[in-house]
Amino acid sequence: MSFASAAAQALVGEERAPLSAMAFVADSATQGRVSADLFGLTLGKAVIREGSIDTALAIAEWPRDLDLLVVDLAGSNDPVADAAALKTAAPGNCLVIGLGQINDVALYRELLAVGFHDYLALPLGEGVMKRTVERMLELRERGGISPLGASAANAVKPRTLSVIGARGGVGTTTLAITIGSLLGKRLKEEVLLVDFDLHYGSLMLALDLEAVDALREALDQPDRIDALFIQQVAQKKSDYLYAMGAEEAPSGGFQARPHAAGDFIRAMHRRFRWIVADVPRGDPVLQRQVIEASTDIVLVTDLSLPGVRDAMRLQQLVQDVAPGGRLHLVTSGVGDPRRSAVKVADVERTLKQKIACQVPSDLSAALAAVNFGKPLSEAAPNSAILKALRPLVASLDEAAVADGKPGRSAGTLVRLVQSLKAGRGKRK
Ligand SMILES: Nc1ncnc2c1ncn2[C@@H]1O[C@H](COP(=O)(O)OP(=O)(O)O)[C@@H](O)[C@H]1O
Ligand SMILES: [Mg+2]
Repeated sequence: MSFASAAAQALVGEERAPLSAMAFVADSATQGRVSADLFGLTLGKAVIREGSIDTALAIAEWPRDLDLLVVDLAGSNDPVADAAALKTAAPGNCLVIGLGQINDVALYRELLAVGFHDYLALPLGEGVMKRTVERMLELRERGGISPLGASAANAVKPRTLSVIGARGGVGTTTLAITIGSLLGKRLKEEVLLVDFDLHYGSLMLALDLEAVDALREALDQPDRIDALFIQQVAQKKSDYLYAMGAEEAPSGGFQARPHAAGDFIRAMHRRFRWIVADVPRGDPVLQRQVIEASTDIVLVTDLSLPGVRDAMRLQQLVQDVAPGGRLHLVTSGVGDPRRSAVKVADVERTLKQKIACQVPSDLSAALAAVNFGKPLSEAAPNSAILKALRPLVASLDEAAVADGKPGRSAGTLVRLVQSLKAGRGKRK
């Protein structure tokens, strides 16, 4: 074994076999970057060719065991159609990553829709490709061992969880942070927390992180969100937990334009598969937008009459704007259930839905989290709150996997791609 491949073997580690990878890249700077980033993962055997998606489409026989394909979309007049054609031609299990100059969320979404696993805007930062591939491999490994047998594509489906309180002070922010932290640890995946209460949010304060103006700017102009922005604005709390939030002046008005939150969330999903949103109660427009963009909603209610009334109204809102979203009802741990006017059974009867989790009261754990500026799961790892939340967190994760049924449009897409390919053949 040469020194280079011995070193590469050490980089790969023991648990993962080297990947078989090919890349078609137009410019030499990017070729160098891709080659360096893939070196360890492929034992230096990645095939890096000068070219683009056109060159890749001209290949008649693909190696059957190809694990990874990187293609530059440079020069393509219709990158999405070309991507769809390439995806059908490439081996089924192969991960496909697009590269290109265009930094546009709409393009990114369309590429994912035709089966690309990711799209990275050029120029590539050092290590970006390596991290992207590693994250995909991890997802695929998890998907592979899942009892439900989810494929990699299913496992990378973006998820947005909204945590909403029926009333103020019921522990919404605490729950958003705790669930985000438990989810990240469980999945070994970076989770992003976003506090959408731009004026009075307390999530950043609770985590001892800095609030930034950029969240408001990003909501104003989500099309300007790029990898660099995300890197600078999402603040790292721990290995698997990132957060962002603002502290707008109380006097400053902010009116979210239509779809602002949805566009923002989709843009952030380029970097984070899981986003956990702390949803404001004071801004009905933003509240509605965030719920609309959510795949899962945790609704927290206390055991009071106003709490149940508002939980009912929010339940209705969720059914109206996110009919495909999964609603999980949770009762608040703030306060003593024995002294409350309403019983859990009353809530279930009124809302016609089972409570997914009764969060217990644990004042000392809540206090420890505040004092340390850390998620409750880290500040008080033995708290009963965590024990109560774990099944909920597990069900969120499993729901994500179970949800990955092929879409109804799959057949249409395949036919479309086949006709495209036929047309391409005739032109030659
Ligand atoms: N399960 C709990 N047991 C005891 N205290 C809690 C619990 N959850 C939250 N708290 C405390 O209740 C207060 C309000 O919590 P917070 O998460 O900010 O609520 P919200 O976001 O709904 O306003 C905080 O002081 C927090 O530490
Ligand atoms: Mg709050």
